[in-house]
Amino acid sequence: MSQQFIPFNKPYMTGRELEYIAQAHANGHLSGDGPFTKRCHAWLEQRTGCRKALLTHSCTAALEMAAILLDLQPGDEVIMPSFTFVSTANAFVLRGAVPVFVDIRTDTLNLDESLIEAAITPKTRAICVVHYAGVGCEMDAIMEIAHRNDLYVVEDAAQGILSTYNGRPLGSIGHLAALSFHETKNVISGEGGALLINDERLIARGEIVREKGTNRSKFFRGQVDKYTWVDLGSSYLPGEITAAFLAAQLEHADEITSQRLSIWKQYFDWGAPFEASARLRRPVVPEHCTHNAHMFYLLMPDLERRTAFIAHLKACDVGAVFHYIPLHSSPAGRRFGRAATELPVTDATSNRLVRLPLWLPDLDLERVLGAAENSFL
Ligand SMILES: Cc1ncc(COP(=O)(O)O)c(C=O)c1O
Repeated sequence: MSQQFIPFNKPYMTGRELEYIAQAHANGHLSGDGPFTKRCHAWLEQRTGCRKALLTHSCTAALEMAAILLDLQPGDEVIMPSFTFVSTANAFVLRGAVPVFVDIRTDTLNLDESLIEAAITPKTRAICVVHYAGVGCEMDAIMEIAHRNDLYVVEDAAQGILSTYNGRPLGSIGHLAALSFHETKNVISGEGGALLINDERLIARGEIVREKGTNRSKFFRGQVDKYTWVDLGSSYLPGEITAAFLAAQLEHADEITSQRLSIWKQYFDWGAPFEASARLRRPVVPEHCTHNAHMFYLLMPDLERRTAFIAHLKACDVGAVFHYIPLHSSPAGRRFGRAATELPVTDATSNRLVRLPLWLPDLDLERVLGAAENSFL
């Protein structure tokens, strides 16, 4: 009998999702900003310490809102890593802005803060950092560079819920931040995200941009007697069914994180002897960062060994994947953005990185580790 395939990802239900969806239906309020959305906003504001949380359809949508809120004009530049998901760049390109790609650090694979200043030009308006694998970027240095050069900072915290940098939750440090609740993330709602606003000056407009450019949020709070079109915007708010699902997940966010951390730690410990014999490299988490075990990755010595490793796992019925094709070398990245310099760490990482399955509740870790170990025989 053939064994079951262990997929790379599996969405996890914490228990009350369907009950809350039934409640949303019974409430008779299925459009956005009902009781479940408010519950999610309160949770996010309390746990991240952001000034204002706004649920969105996705992290992509939250990044698009951020680009609108920063009033980016065609030709304005945004500094960001190339080693990231497309939405980090695409959201700004939609406003006509130019992504300027900077290399990443060799340890955390996050934007290399020491390369930012050299990439700043008179057109630079913002820095968009990505907390890769839920491990914080060097935010003290980045915020200092931003203040000195009068730049906004957007945190792409798609992977960063409940992680901290120097004791501060990711998403609470930049002017704006974006979270993802896509089904591959720690806390999910299928598709979903949130914009976190830390700069008070951007809150009122954030509500307007999310509500099709109208002041409807003010109207619902009784602050104006009719609502009207006042600014740019789109429909960025999810309905209550999505928020109900998310509310059930958020209640278990700490438990999800600790269970994922336990799997992560087993992977990490398993990898130690292989790292010692230079057959792979494990993730690096700086002392001043706590992370949420969003992903467990390995860096193989080169592309050939990575390809062989993934093929071996597949033959053992284990799904493992790689990412990212660097944005600066993708067709759209070349068309809409530019690399500030050569990006050797990005290029090498893209060829060497492999992600192992990390999901709840019943991942057969022994089989994954057995298969991984056999590949080194
Ligand atoms: C770094 C990063 N940014 C943005 C996104 C987009 O998230 P969403 O699918 O919620 O739009 C992702 C999703 O994988 C991501 O990893």
